[in-house]
Amino acid sequence: TILTGLFGHPVGHSLSPLMHNRAFAELGVNFHYAAFDIDPGQVREAVAAIRALGLRGVNVTIPYKVAVMDYLDEVEEEAKAIGAVNTIVNEGGKLIGYNTDGRGFVRSLIEETGIDVKRQSAILVGAGGAARGVAVSLLRAGLPSLAIANRTEEKAERLAEQLQAMNPQARIAALPMKEIADALTDATLLVQTTSIGMHPNIDASPVAAEALHERLLVSDLIYNPLETKLLRDAKEKGARIHHGLGMFIYQGALSFEYWTGQPAPVEAMRKAVSDALY
Ligand code: ATR
Repeated sequence: TILTGLFGHPVGHSLSPLMHNRAFAELGVNFHYAAFDIDPGQVREAVAAIRALGLRGVNVTIPYKVAVMDYLDEVEEEAKAIGAVNTIVNEGGKLIGYNTDGRGFVRSLIEETGIDVKRQSAILVGAGGAARGVAVSLLRAGLPSLAIANRTEEKAERLAEQLQAMNPQARIAALPMKEIADALTDATLLVQTTSIGMHPNIDASPVAAEALHERLLVSDLIYNPLETKLLRDAKEKGARIHHGLGMFIYQGALSFEYWTGQPAPVEAMRKAVSDALY
């Protein structure tokens, strides 16, 4: 058996083992995915164990996506730009770090809505790790215009500056939260990356319903609940909506493809996760 898994702390509630083991079974490959709860003082040893035990690779989740980077032999460009690794691949003892979160989001967005990223004017809500991954990948996919709004404005400003330096061709700016409604008039894509609206606080939304309109595609990274207050409001205003389940599925699918070299059985993975969640 070829072993893969998840490094995190905690990992007990993760749906990744279920999703990946379902995918391995679907393709009939002799792989297994295990959850490893890593002690905060043992990250270096855990990464070394990938080599020592001959694991094919692992996913990395909270709180180690940044910490593992120090112990890898190579980090791919996009993961460097995001500043975090969520996938490690063991190429004959050489450990390479990737980040499939942002690309998972973009692939989900394109496959599930059919939009052309190169023609969008986007507003991003949030400036944390998830926002950064999504923004880096959207810009790499050709997004020409991005405004970032965050509760802590300085974080949005810093992220906007860093992204602008990496993407001189795009128009990138920080946006005060209270100006979201005005800015939405000309936007075509709204991406919500904070925990606002997540279970159990399902009646919270970071954007006033009145600001939403039918020329918008509204995307929320949250997938529990599947339809947040923001998405319900958006639907009511005639906007198109995109929820966060696809990002989770596709980040896993991309990891799966690195490890197995085969196309991931995306629909089987989606069904396994949906059945467990809803
Ligand atoms: P993640 O990896 O999920 O992005 P994170 O890096 O901790 O997690 O970032 C959390 C994001 O959600 C931040 O943008 C945070 O805003 P601040 O930078 O102001 O902290 C945002 N966030 C979380 N809870 C929030 C709340 N109740 N209201 C507004 N923003 C919130």
